[in-house]
Amino acid sequence: MSNDPLLQPYQLKHLTLRNRIIVTSHEPAYPEDGMPKERYRAYHVERARGGVAMTMTAGSASVAKDSPPVFNNLLVYKDEVVPWIRDLTDAVHEEGAAVMIQLTHLGRRTRYDKGDWLPVVSPSHKREAAHRAFPKKIEDWDIERIIKDYADAAERMKAGGMDGIELFATGHLMDQFWSPLTNDLDGPYGGNLDNRLRFTFDVVKEIRKRVGSEFIVGMRYTADEMLDGGLTKEDGIEISRRLANSGFFDYLNINRGHIDTDAGLTDSVPIQGMLNSPHLELAGEIRAATNFPVFHAAKIPDVATARHAVATGKVDMVGMTRAHMADPHIVRKIMEKREDEIRPCVGANYCLDRIYQGGAAYCIHNAATGRELEMPHVIPKAAAKRKVVIVGAGPAGLEAARVAAERGHEVVVYEAANDAGGQIRLTAQSQRRHEMISIIDWRMTQCEKLGVTFHFNQWAEADTLLAENPDVVIIATGGLPHTEVLSKGNELVVSAWEIISGDVKPGKNVLIFDDAGDHPGLQAAEFIASTGAAVEIMTPDRSFSPEIMAMNLVPYMRSLQKENVTFTVTYRLEAVERRGDKLIAKVGSDYGGVSMERVVDQVVVNHGTIPLDDIYFELKPHSTNLGEMSHDQLVKGVSQSVIRNPGGKFQLFRIGDAVSARNTHAAIYDALRLVKNL
Ligand SMILES: Cc1cc2nc3c(=O)[nH]c(=O)nc-3n(C[C@H](O)[C@H](O)[C@H](O)COP(=O)(O)O)c2cc1C
Ligand code: SF4
Repeated sequence: MSNDPLLQPYQLKHLTLRNRIIVTSHEPAYPEDGMPKERYRAYHVERARGGVAMTMTAGSASVAKDSPPVFNNLLVYKDEVVPWIRDLTDAVHEEGAAVMIQLTHLGRRTRYDKGDWLPVVSPSHKREAAHRAFPKKIEDWDIERIIKDYADAAERMKAGGMDGIELFATGHLMDQFWSPLTNDLDGPYGGNLDNRLRFTFDVVKEIRKRVGSEFIVGMRYTADEMLDGGLTKEDGIEISRRLANSGFFDYLNINRGHIDTDAGLTDSVPIQGMLNSPHLELAGEIRAATNFPVFHAAKIPDVATARHAVATGKVDMVGMTRAHMADPHIVRKIMEKREDEIRPCVGANYCLDRIYQGGAAYCIHNAATGRELEMPHVIPKAAAKRKVVIVGAGPAGLEAARVAAERGHEVVVYEAANDAGGQIRLTAQSQRRHEMISIIDWRMTQCEKLGVTFHFNQWAEADTLLAENPDVVIIATGGLPHTEVLSKGNELVVSAWEIISGDVKPGKNVLIFDDAGDHPGLQAAEFIASTGAAVEIMTPDRSFSPEIMAMNLVPYMRSLQKENVTFTVTYRLEAVERRGDKLIAKVGSDYGGVSMERVVDQVVVNHGTIPLDDIYFELKPHSTNLGEMSHDQLVKGVSQSVIRNPGGKFQLFRIGDAVSARNTHAAIYDALRLVKNL
């Protein structure tokens, strides 16, 4: 048996967990009608199959009608959920993993205009900045009702075959009671700590009456709000002792911080560029103070850090949640001594940011996650070997190369630059976004292992490609910055990419016009502002940088606000003129009737990229499909069979930004779903 600390079993009451790695509760927003149907099940089964000891479902499954879903949460207040839960738990158990679910009432962390349009409740009228609802101050009959709702939901989960439930107290109703900042009640549920904890204990007592003492019940909570006037670490340790000594709980799952603002949430669940495992010490202190089973997750993205967390006794079970979205087979790879093959979580937080925008969680560089019903995590071999030639070694080209090589094809890649990576290589030049380079490095390592041939520094000409005698050619050449958006003066502006790459020196007084609203605009702003220049970011949109999304915006704001960068929304840069050594930026508005000027010495434009597609059009007449990709076949997940030119020599496809400017996930998904059927 292995002596790897991560691979040792753990006894949680009657439940034997097969190793020390878990997926903590998280709502990927995959429910359909509030139910965990096939897609939800397949997502968790994949992680169970990958070897995780326990997968924790939901994340904030809603126990009551007045806790309506804000990110497509599971609705466990409905009886109809039980058979869906049963299907899921049976399937996960069959793969040898334990499975639990997190139950919650969101309190003020939701909106009244969702679900049944009921008022939001909380122990005070104070609103949560993130969800904006002004809550009703909770009454005695609300409290009685919600205690019963929790117990009913717990009973349903037991009936559905769950190994246990976890209660949640981080920004939700339970810790809205705990925190002096959000509890204005007088006794019995407000005032001193005993009173503020009363609701939690009333809930868990009622739950225990229904589910008995054998069923696992855990508590995930913030043990230090890190807010003036909020729960301190000392409070957190005292609460931990009381939870542990109460006899109602089987483990503690430690969070730190507050999640009522984007900034708070990001410090609690850190993203790329932020420290790894920042709250692990606190988890360790609580384990030492309580001598009770402790679980913890917060940016423990790699096996070495996870191993350290367990080996040093800071935690009993280590959560690697986003890490498992990036690679569901982490444990299997550790067991097979293939740790170096684990697809790394790069902290891009595309997954979590999407759910707060109403989308489903997708991993920026694993397009199979959340699509387990259609997309394979392990690529099957093709029936016949073919020769696949790929032009471009950015994320789309490299994913195409990796998947084609996994299929068993002969793969050749041409890349004009001397390195792989395309736009990601530029992105990763910002220290804070350096982790992005692992998207490229992991694929390069895989490709090299699989025998892909690379030709760097080689601008692929049609003749060279034809001489390869390919069966398939995939054009993944990406795009070039597109700045031609003005009625006059396009030649006077520079692109955000030219600033990031260092090709153009920043000016002293700079206007950035950013209507793409994605990372390059703000990366350029950060770079320019760091030189001490005055920077204004302007967009015609109602908010700036909409593609960056909430948590990813936090580090940018922290650096840009410090540098006094200004943000101007709803105005459009229309033209630029030179006047002496200055540039005059002519500014209007899509709303009409506005004409302003800005006097600056540099104008930077971020307007996405325009496809670099000459080679595609040159090759088109030589191909059998004349470049056509059947969308029906692509979406259905079957092989491409379009023939438009029977005399052609190969199939030709175009993917990623070589088609149109999109994001990294789109580029990688293009590649995976095309090439998995080649
Ligand atoms: C898409 C997504 C949804 C999440 N939803 C919840 C939730 O509902 N409840 C919860 O306790 N944690 C939630 N989390 C937080 C995770 O459980 C975990 O604490 C966090 O991702 C940090 O761990 P990691 O760095 O290993 O991912 C969510 C995380 C993600 C990525
Ligand atoms: S999107 Fe980023 S943070 Fe989320 S799982 Fe993928 S790599 Fe990790």
